[in-house]
Amino acid sequence: MKRRWKIMAVLSLIVVVGGALIVVSGVIPVKASSGHWEITRWFLNFTKERSVATHSTGIEVPDLEDQALIIKGAGHYETGCQVCHGKPDGIRPRLVSLMTPKPPNLKKIVPEREPQELFYVVKHGIKMTGMPAWPEQKRDDEIWPVVAFLLKYPDLDLAEYDVLVTGEHQKQSDQSIESAEGASIPVPHLVIEVCGGCHGVDGQGRGLGVFPRLAGQNEAYLRVSLEAYHHDKRLSGTMEEIASRMSPTEIQEISRYYSRLQPQPTNRSQNKKGTVNRDHPEDPPSFERGARIAADGIADQDVPACADCHATTRKPFKNAYPTLIGQYQDYLELQIRLFQNRSRGGSQSANLMHAAVDGLKPDEIRDVCFYYSELPER
Ligand code: HEC
Ligand code: HEC
Ligand code: HEC
Repeated sequence: MKRRWKIMAVLSLIVVVGGALIVVSGVIPVKASSGHWEITRWFLNFTKERSVATHSTGIEVPDLEDQALIIKGAGHYETGCQVCHGKPDGIRPRLVSLMTPKPPNLKKIVPEREPQELFYVVKHGIKMTGMPAWPEQKRDDEIWPVVAFLLKYPDLDLAEYDVLVTGEHQKQSDQSIESAEGASIPVPHLVIEVCGGCHGVDGQGRGLGVFPRLAGQNEAYLRVSLEAYHHDKRLSGTMEEIASRMSPTEIQEISRYYSRLQPQPTNRSQNKKGTVNRDHPEDPPSFERGARIAADGIADQDVPACADCHATTRKPFKNAYPTLIGQYQDYLELQIRLFQNRSRGGSQSANLMHAAVDGLKPDEIRDVCFYYSELPER
């Protein structure tokens, strides 16, 4: 009996030392050019399947049918995913097909996955494969729209994809647009190529609460926001990636461009919660209650008057503070929730907002955002 143990121990030692020698000798290929051996592929795939299944158990899936969410996810897919995974026509840079493993065509993968598994993969990425993690781990609210889009992706053709990604926006060069003062100004190249898809060339945000309106926004605020995204000080997986590629000159030029455009008033149908409160249809948001919070704050809850910093007219703006007038209600509400959870970040003045909104309750957030969103220009 003892002798058998001894033999086993010696054999195990030989396997371990032998294995180590093979690794040390350097004969195992790490080259991507030949792909994986069949057995390695099987092993890695099996490990991935088990890991994703185990770790995604218990993730709660929100309602993913909202068209605005799908459009938000499509915009991100275009800027952050299609370089590797391609568009519905299957075309991608040749470089990508030389990766091991290759980024798969998601039209084939998605139907085999549960939404919570897609969420897990998009949030955390996959080690040693080139599949990156989401840049901001605190922004689950940005990842679910991508999942909502992925679930639609297998059924899309290229034309339908383009409509989701850019809407009516045409990427033709040499466009010009009328500024708020009535001058004709050229549209910067980057706006046509990149920003226009989500914020619109006209800066109106495509009429959806998921992309903020930039037209008429305070120029200094646009600039410090882009700088904050650029330096990962304002947390957004979508905007950090886009701003990281902008030069200081582009940041300046585009902030000036959008600030000069005339904002359109937000109409009630664009504020989805504006007409009916989805959770309590009998208790719609109140413009008057919102106006009182903006003008006086709520003393018992340590909430200051918002108008002290944000004013109730667009001008004059001496500081790099944003105007909230005519901004989409859904967008404003989201930003306040992010401030409360400490997952927004922003410029050096962003801390002012923590103390300002920590005391607000969900109904109050809704009312004050509804008020600003519907406040007419004066
Ligand atoms: C730099 C290239 C690259 C980028 C950018 C990229 N991926 Fe991937 N992705 C990959 C690779 C490589 C794999 C294959 C991993 C594997 O086979 O284990 C993959 C796998 C996947 C999978 C399948 C995982 C599974 O269950 O087998 C999904 C879903 C996915 N990516 C979604 C996305 C989304 C959504 C984005 C954008 C937010 C994105 N990817 C961005 C390279 C990329
Ligand atoms: C894929 C869609 C998409 C594209 C393309 C895009 N953005 Fe954004 N942008 C967003 C989203 C979503 C937000 C809100 C992010 C958040 O929650 O912080 C945002 C926020 C912003 C903000 C902050 C606005 C505010 O009121 O605080 C600025 C400024 C901005 N984007 C500028 C740009 C510029 C300039 C470009 C082009 C170089 C661009 N964006 C391209 C989706 C996009
Ligand atoms: C002491 C000044 C101050 C007060 C008071 C204040 N804010 Fe702000 N607020 C700011 C600053 C500064 C920012 C920009 C932060 C950044 O991104 O750097 C901001 C940003 C915001 C944003 C995000 C806008 C966007 O486009 O992303 C919202 C929404 C907002 N404030 C709502 C409110 C509300 C509602 C109140 C009142 C309850 C309020 N604020 C009170 C200074 C203030």
